[in-house]
Amino acid sequence: MTEVWTTRRILEWIEGYLSEKGIDNPRLSAQWLVADALGCSRIDLYADIDRPLSESEREVLRESTKRRGTGEPLQYITGTCDFRFLSYFIEPGVLIPRPETEVLVSEALAALPKDEEILALDLCTGSGNIACSLASENPLIHVFATDLSPEACALAQRNVDHLGLSEQVLVMQGDLGSPLPDDIYGKVGLVISNPPYIPSNVLSGLDAEVKDFEPSLALDGGPDGLEVFRRIVPFAHDALRTGGLFACELHEGCLDAAAEIAQKAGFTGVRIVEDLVQKPRVLIAQKS
Ligand SMILES: C[S@@+](CC[C@H](N)C(=O)[O-])C[C@H]1O[C@@H](n2cnc3c(N)ncnc32)[C@H](O)[C@@H]1O
Repeated sequence: MTEVWTTRRILEWIEGYLSEKGIDNPRLSAQWLVADALGCSRIDLYADIDRPLSESEREVLRESTKRRGTGEPLQYITGTCDFRFLSYFIEPGVLIPRPETEVLVSEALAALPKDEEILALDLCTGSGNIACSLASENPLIHVFATDLSPEACALAQRNVDHLGLSEQVLVMQGDLGSPLPDDIYGKVGLVISNPPYIPSNVLSGLDAEVKDFEPSLALDGGPDGLEVFRRIVPFAHDALRTGGLFACELHEGCLDAAAEIAQKAGFTGVRIVEDLVQKPRVLIAQKS
């Protein structure tokens, strides 16, 4: 008698397959893939663990398991990623939002006034996760979000529309501040960015899941990791109003050099904030 493919059996099979392929934490991957194929949460899988799978569900899982077995990140396969309080569409060609970037957003929100309208610029917006978080967590914030990559801008726009934030977030394609209207100079309350910041020589040592699947335009920060940052600093200083805030995520080894660059450009109150695993990660500064 042929054995029925139940949730339990497919979870075990996928876990074994991914384990053989050397994928980290194969059980967790199996749970995410099966939950995605069945359209339920990971917890719900266990509520009906002996449920038989349909042929179409098994077909979806054959394809997604094969992709995961090559090391492709889960978020590209399931097409979604959680960031702070929201769930975002995500797709190959655009950086997957990271937990450390949540610190960048929380630091910026905490340092901003809560009772006045704020014009914010999110440079290098990617999927739009920073811009959408700011807008959804503070209804007085309006964001211009820019990215050089057309794929990123299209995805950011999809996220803005899906999250119902189009009144607050405007996505524009182009190099850093170049697509922005001229009349913003001196009026901006926050310039925030998670630019490409991995030093080029560190890139080749990154996990295959990152370097083989995520776009190098989103990662490569040049020889010292500060190539894009150096271009952002003078622009941010010109764009900000007096008292405006600059918040930027950077590579752990670059924060001291970055602080010096920001100070030389005229920023004050420069401080470095650690991420969730106590690595220096975020630079905060003010235009005084
Ligand atoms: C590290 S990712 C950050 C994505 C997103 N903000 C996040 O936190 O997940 C950097 C982004 O910068 C974009 N980028 C690279 N160079 C740029 C430039 N010169 N101007 C605007 N965007 C750029 C990339 O396309 C990528 O989406």
